[in-house]
Amino acid sequence: MGFGAEVREASVRRKAAGSLARWERSKGSLAGGVSSGLRRTARPFPMFYQSGAGAEVTDVDGNHYVDYTLAWGPLILGHAPPEVNEAIRQNLERGHTFGAQHDLEYEVAELIQAHVPCAERVCFANSGTEIVQVALRLARAHTGRQMYLKFEGHYHGWADSVLVSYKPSGEQIREFGYEPIPVGAGQRPNSGAIVVEWNDRAGVEAAFRRHGAEISAVICEPVLCNSGCIPPVPGFLEFLREATLSAGAVLIFDEVITGFRLGIGGGQAYYGVTPDLATFAKAVGGGLPLSMLAGKAALMDHISNGTVVHAGTLNGNPLVLAAAKATLETLAHDDGAVYRKIWKCGERLRDGLSDLLRKKGHAIATNGLGPVFQLSFQDMPPRNYRETLLGDTKLYSDFALALLDEGILVLPDGRWYLSAAHTEEHVDRTLAAVARL
Ligand SMILES: Cc1ncc(COP(=O)(O)O)c(C=O)c1O
Repeated sequence: MGFGAEVREASVRRKAAGSLARWERSKGSLAGGVSSGLRRTARPFPMFYQSGAGAEVTDVDGNHYVDYTLAWGPLILGHAPPEVNEAIRQNLERGHTFGAQHDLEYEVAELIQAHVPCAERVCFANSGTEIVQVALRLARAHTGRQMYLKFEGHYHGWADSVLVSYKPSGEQIREFGYEPIPVGAGQRPNSGAIVVEWNDRAGVEAAFRRHGAEISAVICEPVLCNSGCIPPVPGFLEFLREATLSAGAVLIFDEVITGFRLGIGGGQAYYGVTPDLATFAKAVGGGLPLSMLAGKAALMDHISNGTVVHAGTLNGNPLVLAAAKATLETLAHDDGAVYRKIWKCGERLRDGLSDLLRKKGHAIATNGLGPVFQLSFQDMPPRNYRETLLGDTKLYSDFALALLDEGILVLPDGRWYLSAAHTEEHVDRTLAAVARL
């Protein structure tokens, strides 16, 4: 065990006794004791929180943490930002949902049109999982084709058709190669996916040569945030743009993480490649459950004219759209000043972490960008999912546990999120904690 993991675990168990008691109690009523499966694997056990403010959270035992998890990404302005709170408060009194039209719908849609390059039209839903399904359905309707191409390690939600070849084990890869590998039991076997390695031009070309007439869409995270924060190699997104155009397929960027995080125009503006459709969730709602599809009018027209069904009782409800409007206005203010701050803090933190850990004798690779980056115990930054398997995940888990004991909260998979609420002082505090390990 690294980073004094045994001692650290004993210490966390002592000071988080209230979380441990609640965890034991929850398991008696809530399936797995958590509301989303991955949370169950937290080490030494899932913590219970009572409040969050800015870049910090407090657990039920009164321990404070600098938060780099940001609820797995949505909290681009930090916890409970005052401008978002105020917008929600004002709208609370007006009613929570109408199941009908109101001003915030087109106001938020217009804001998005102004900032997201592919957003000729938008539509709203509640989660990233749902909105990806709308995008793939639109692509099938538009092209009359049934299959789609995805990249190994990319996550597009938990629906049957897309939850394949997401973090397959080395053993699964040896047995099934690039066959679509379902993640859990009960999934329908025929996902319609063709799986290719991220950043592999030749693999994409071969897939189009073999299945070109059947591929409705290529979908990718513009930066592979879910498996190692791996950016596209230079020219790869441009290549996907050209390949899909010449094959008559739809290019979908899944910007659930990169959207409103890399900048207000998301990955597509950052890399200067405009997809046909793009899915958003997480940051667009500033912490409330909102997702959105943005796309070219020629595709979105299938929704406008009712040939493709997009529905949902709570879609576009005023509470989440009030939060989204306040979030987007804050992000856009002063020509994106917030992003300049997030990038600066993120890059300083990332460099500081790798310098300190290297000085302690560890092999460290970082990947990603200022607002979301990856730290791994391995020699070289991975260029695709399979290379992430070379990282020492056990050591990272010990590192994360030691940080928890030091009052620094990070995700178990090595991904770090920054928000507008993180300051240089948070970065200093975090680096001082790492220096003590
Ligand atoms: C890139 C990407 N797409 C889709 C999803 C699914 O979003 P949700 O969890 O809101 O269903 C996620 C969630 O982490 C994601 O990271």
